[in-house]
This record gives sequence, C-alpha cells and structure tokens, in this order.
Amino acid sequence: MEKPSLTFSFAAPKRTTQRRQPPASHDGSGADPRSPAAKAMAEDIAVMLTNDDAAVSKLSAVRLGYWRDNFLHHFVRGYYTRVAAIHNVLRQFLAAGGSDTPKQVVCLGAGFDTTYFQKKSEGWLGDNVVFYELDFGEVVKRKSNIITTCRELHELIAHNEAGIRVTEEGLHTKNYHLITADLRSIENVDKVLTTAGLERWAATFEKAVFVTYEQILPDDAFGRMMLKNLEERNVHLHGLHARPSIETQRSAYLALGWDEAQVVDMNAISDRLLGRDELARLNRIEMFDEVEEWRLTQAHYCIVLATTDASKSGIWADLSLIQPTPPAVPTQQ
Ligand SMILES: C[S@@+](CC[C@H](N)C(=O)[O-])C[C@H]1O[C@@H](n2cnc3c(N)ncnc32)[C@H](O)[C@@H]1O
Repeated sequence: MEKPSLTFSFAAPKRTTQRRQPPASHDGSGADPRSPAAKAMAEDIAVMLTNDDAAVSKLSAVRLGYWRDNFLHHFVRGYYTRVAAIHNVLRQFLAAGGSDTPKQVVCLGAGFDTTYFQKKSEGWLGDNVVFYELDFGEVVKRKSNIITTCRELHELIAHNEAGIRVTEEGLHTKNYHLITADLRSIENVDKVLTTAGLERWAATFEKAVFVTYEQILPDDAFGRMMLKNLEERNVHLHGLHARPSIETQRSAYLALGWDEAQVVDMNAISDRLLGRDELARLNRIEMFDEVEEWRLTQAHYCIVLATTDASKSGIWADLSLIQPTPPAVPTQQ
C-alpha cells in the first residue's frame, strides 16, 4: 500500500503535571515512596488521572446533549468548544485532497478519546487513513482491554480477531494503532511511531497539520488566580510563561519550522465557529447565566493550528479554525 503522505496531530495539554501524594509504594513492595523512581511514578499516575477526569466531564456533556458520542460511555470526559474546534479541523484535514489522498492522524495523550470510533462510524476514515494514539502504558492497557472486549468498538478497528495484534506496548490493526509512549521523550515518540509504520514526524513531514489546546494569559488578575488555584492543587503548567499569549504561541510555531500558524482563543471559537444558532441550541440544553465569567475563562485558553506544505501545493489553503461550514464526508472510492 502506498505510504500515507499527510499527517494531522492533535495533542492533549502536555505541559500540565499534576502531583498528588506519592503512594506508599507503587508495586506494593513497601519500597521507599520518597525515592526518585517512586516520585516519578507518582507524577505519571497523577497525569494519567487527568484522562479519567477528562472522560467523566465529556460523558456528562454528552448526556446533557451537547454533542453525540455513541462510544464515550464505554470509557468514561471533555469540553464542548475544545471538541468542536478540534473535530472541525480534523474534518477539514480528512476532506482535503479527497479520500484518495493517504493520511495519518497522530493523537498525543489520547487517553480515552473516542475520535477514531466516531469518525470511523460516520464514514470519515477510509482505507487510506491510519490513526496512531499515544499515551502512558497504563492508559493504553486499559483502553486496549476495553476495545478488545467490546464488540461495538472491536468491529470498528478490525473485521476479525486475525486483524488485531495486541503486544506488550499496545494494540495494532491495519488502520488503528494504540501505543505506549512517554511524550516527554521525543526519541521515544519517534521510535514507537516509526516502528508502528508512521512515515516521518511533525514538522519534518512534507505536508502536516498540528492542532493543540493551550492555556494563555497567566499574568492578568484572572490568570494569576487560575495559576494560584492550580498550584494549590499541585498542578504546574510548565512552559506557560514561555508562550503566554496568542502572538507568542504563533511565533513559537513559526520559529519551530511550521509554515503557517493560526491561533484563536476559545471565545473566538464560540463566536465564530459555533455561531448564534449553535449557542442558542446550547442555551436550550442548559440555561447559562454566567456569561461574563465564562468569557473571561475562555479568553485564557486557545487553540493552535499549525501547517506545513513544503511543496507549496496549497492543500491547506482553506483550513480554518473558525470555518463554520463543515466539509462533506469524502466519498470512498
Ligand atoms: C487531559 S487527558 C486528555 C485525554 C484525551 N486527549 C481527551 O481529550 O479525552 C491527558 C492525557 O495525556 C496523557 N499524558 C500526559 N502526559 C503524558 C506523557 N508524558 N506521556 C504519555 N501520555 C501523557 C495522560 O495520561 C492523559 O491520558
């Protein structure tokens, strides 16, 4: 099969480290919980727990009817505007160049995210699209167990048992890979993705799209309070001060070698992507009267969309974070 040539990556907020109290010992052996290994493991566990938090919130939003997700109840989280923004770009990416154009999607810190299953069941993922999901080993193991024991999910990754390979570090099918990786090591990420069949990586792709969700504005009154609250819960946003604004986020991606970078805050996503009708629908689902506070919070989060197109083919020319008209599902050949 021809190697996929386009890549889309989306990432969990990866600068967050949440430290809870280290357990007495991780393996029940009574090993010193103050040892560097025990502390490192406790930090990893705390970060993994953010996935459970995410799944719980997503589920309550789905139950309220914010958006449909027929698979999320199998995992257990989220945030409507973030999901809407990322899915909007993903749909544009999948439609770009039509269904004949091979594509790779890499999800960093995938957790129990169900995007693959949603898009597969909606007909967006033809044979030319390969999905790679990365997370800590514990999360991968739990997700892999859920997928392989649930027929509804199983059927969306392979037609039969023979099509699935479960290994120590993950689960592999022709078009879906769930892989153990520590995102703090680019060498590790590079190695596991290359082993699983991914061709090249991030800005080194000839044509690539990168989407991520980030906190911004740490230095105004609200930002300082937000950081103080997080610090009190032992959540540290590493790197936030290095890219504290929409402008610095954008220039950082350009300096890293991306050709273009769009960055908008979450208010722009609400106002320009969702639009008045969608906001009215949301208001019917749940009466919302804390608009000012909500907008202040939303101003402190942004979505980044960075693209490369080495051959200047123009394939991403229409890609937009605030494109309100969704593209159609590409017709499968
Ligand atoms: C907030 S959750 C988001 C999960 C998912 N993207 C979603 O939106 O539902 C963050 C995820 O990133 C993973 N993660 C954070 N740091 C990581 C690291 N260094 N290596 C691998 N995974 C990591 C966590 O385990 C967790 O599953």
